[in-house]
Amino acid sequence: MTTNAILLKTLRGERTERPPVWFMRQAGRVLPSYMKIKEDYTFWQMMQNPEVAAKVTLLPVDDLGVDAAILFSDILVIPHALGMGLEFNDSGPLFDNPLAFRENPLSGLHPDPSKLNYIYTVIDKIKRTKSPETPLIGFCGAPLTVLLFMLQGLGRKGDFPEAIRFMYQNKETTRQLIEIVTELSITYALGQIDHGIDVFQLFDTHAGLIPADLYQELFMPSTRKIAAAVREEDIPFIFFPKGLGSGIAQITPDDCDFLSIDWQTPLNLARKLVDPKIGLQGNVDPRLLYASQTEIEKALQPYIEFGKNNQNWIFNLGHGFMPGISFESARFLADWVKQTDWKR
Ligand code: CP3
Repeated sequence: MTTNAILLKTLRGERTERPPVWFMRQAGRVLPSYMKIKEDYTFWQMMQNPEVAAKVTLLPVDDLGVDAAILFSDILVIPHALGMGLEFNDSGPLFDNPLAFRENPLSGLHPDPSKLNYIYTVIDKIKRTKSPETPLIGFCGAPLTVLLFMLQGLGRKGDFPEAIRFMYQNKETTRQLIEIVTELSITYALGQIDHGIDVFQLFDTHAGLIPADLYQELFMPSTRKIAAAVREEDIPFIFFPKGLGSGIAQITPDDCDFLSIDWQTPLNLARKLVDPKIGLQGNVDPRLLYASQTEIEKALQPYIEFGKNNQNWIFNLGHGFMPGISFESARFLADWVKQTDWKR
C-alpha cells in the first residue's frame, strides 16, 4: 500500500523528516531515458501507447528518485475528447479549427468520454508495474487553461489574444463552454480515481492571463466543482493557478487541500497570503537549474528555514522543467532535498 508514502503523509498533515519532492514535467524533457524512447515515437503516440506511457510515467522515480509519479498524458486530451482535431508536432499542440475563429463555437463540440478510455488503460498498467510505495498523481487542466487552447489553438503567441477577447465579448458562450469542459473534466477525474490514482493536481498554467476578479467570477466556480468531486472521493487535491499573484489570498480551504505556488511569488509571502489550513507546494524557479550546482545550492538555502517551519509543504518547481536543463542538475535538486537536514 502507498499509505506510508511521504507525499501522502504530508498531504494528510502528518509530520515527516523532510518535505516530499516531485517535479512538474518530470517525465519529459530532462531524462536521457525519455529522450531515447522519444526517438521512436511522437509525443501523442507515446501517451496513447499503454506500455510506453506507463514506462515513461515511472522513469523519473527510478532516474531522479522523486517521491511520486505523475501520469504521462496531457491536459489537451479534454479538447480531443470533445471532438476537436488536435495533433502535437515538434513545436507543440496544433488544433484544426480553434473555437474563437468559428461561426458557432458551441455546435462543433461533442463530448465523448470513451475517447479517454485509453488513459485508464495506462493507469491500470502503471498500477501493475509500479512499486506499491510510489503514489501516482493524476491530473487535468483547469477550465481556463484548457479553454484558452481550445479558443486560440496554438498558444505560441504566449498570451492567447483572440481567446481573451472572445471571453470578454462572448461571456454567455464562454460560460457554456466552461460548463462543457468542466463536466467532462469531472468525468475524467473520477475515471482516473476509479482506476487508482492517489493524488490529483489541477493545472491552471494560464490563471494569470485574466484579472483575478474575472477569474473568481467566471472560472473559480467550475474549479471548485472539480475540487469537490475529487475530494468527495477522499483523494487529496492540489491546485496550481500559475500567475494568479495576490489572487491566491482569495482561495479558501473549500477550493483545494494544497496550493502549488509559482516562482513569481515568494514562498514566505504565499504562506502569509494563503489560508493556513491549505498546504503549499513549490516553488523553485525552474531556470535556476541552468546555473552551476554551487549557485543552485546557495539559492536553495532559504528553503531550509521554510521547510523547518512548515510541515505542510511539498518541494516542487514553480512551473515545469525547462527544455535544455541537464539531467545532472535535476538529479542534484532531488538529491539535495533528500540529503538536507531539515532540522525538524
Ligand atoms: O511530467 C510530465 O511531463 C507529466 C505529463 C504532462 C505533460 N503535459 C506531458 C507533455 C503534464 C502534467 C502536462 C500538462 C500540460 N500540458 C500543461 C500544464 C502544465 C504546464 O507545464 O504548463 C500544458 C499547458 C500542456 C499543453 C502542452 N503540452 C503544450 C503547450 C505542449 C508543447 C510545449 C511543451 O511544453 O513541451 C505540450 C507537449 C507535452 N506535454 C510534452 C510533454 C512531455 C512535450 C513532448 C515532447 O517531449 O516533445
